[in-house]
Amino acid sequence: MAPQCFETMPRIRFGAGSVETLGEEVRRLEGSRVLIVTDPGIVKAGVLEAVKTVLDKAGLAVTAFTEVESDPSLEAARACVQAAAFARPEVVVGVGGGSSLDLAKVAAVMITNEGPIEAYFGMELVPRPGVPLILIPTTAGTGSEMTSISVLSDTHNQVKKGIVSRHLFARAAILDPLLTLELPQRVTAITGMDALVHAIESYVGVRATVFTDTLNLQAIRLVAGNLRPAFANGRNVAARENMLYASCLAGMAFSNTQNGLDHALALAIGGKYHLPHGLLTAFLLPWVMEFNAIAVPHKFARIAEAFGEPVAGLPALEAARRAVAAVRALLADLGISTRLGDYGVSRQDIPAIARAALGATRLIGNNPRAVTEADVVGMLERNY
Ligand SMILES: [Fe+2]
Repeated sequence: MAPQCFETMPRIRFGAGSVETLGEEVRRLEGSRVLIVTDPGIVKAGVLEAVKTVLDKAGLAVTAFTEVESDPSLEAARACVQAAAFARPEVVVGVGGGSSLDLAKVAAVMITNEGPIEAYFGMELVPRPGVPLILIPTTAGTGSEMTSISVLSDTHNQVKKGIVSRHLFARAAILDPLLTLELPQRVTAITGMDALVHAIESYVGVRATVFTDTLNLQAIRLVAGNLRPAFANGRNVAARENMLYASCLAGMAFSNTQNGLDHALALAIGGKYHLPHGLLTAFLLPWVMEFNAIAVPHKFARIAEAFGEPVAGLPALEAARRAVAAVRALLADLGISTRLGDYGVSRQDIPAIARAALGATRLIGNNPRAVTEADVVGMLERNY
């Protein structure tokens, strides 16, 4: 085996009610001034108030930036960084979905690093560690709480870009399923699918390691067994807890490998059409799996197995195709169409989307099958 490397963040609190430990976690990081980064939905759902109460009880000084938008733009990130510069926090706490957590990461490192933010798009370009960061996901999800990645929309160039830096790792993550019980059904479906896409892209990718394989297979099993129940009844705490666990495992893995063609396409389409990230990655998944299956059929066969497909005795490629069928069945149960035309994407944009996707080398570099613009155009045309 070639030498491998695996890296992750240092501390996870997990389980129903674990958000109550937030004050203790902030104290552990020797902070007394806290900035919470979150979005208006979290405020409306009363979650911000609950988090503030925990911090008040611990005697901590709290300010909040509550203006995170979904698919945060560079401009939105700048506003958040300005709020952070003003608040001068000793600890940043991100609460919410992937957008809030990604902006909390940016805020934490921009307190200690000179701008501009766009200078840090790419791999390991952030010079100094940020202020300590705690991340609390309220979707299951992006796995952002476990990754060293922050994705922002460059609205000027109509493309989404990632900052990847070890300084973006949180010092602690708090995974409390009770915070996810009120998620609307559609959000449960698309964020849960995003976690599955992370696990699959990381598992079949060329940068997969023995460590990421274990995490990803378990994440796939958990999503296969729990996404339908969580979707069917949002108050199923066990299913919610397992989805949060799955999303965390997949995040831990793909932070090391990055994703693949599915995410490259999702960022390319998402840069122009503001569709939710999880929706994009979800409907692209069966197409990309079909395309990639011949590169690593034995791995796709294991995915089919993780979905409980009866694949024993089948040739690897046939078993691999069962994995695609299992994903299509899941998408059908979640009410997610797999036709590009259903999402308002114009056919004329397909060549530009293909070009932009192939430009995302961080992601394409992990895809198990070499891919050309013609491959991508063919894939989008076939599934229009
Ligand atoms: Fe994703």
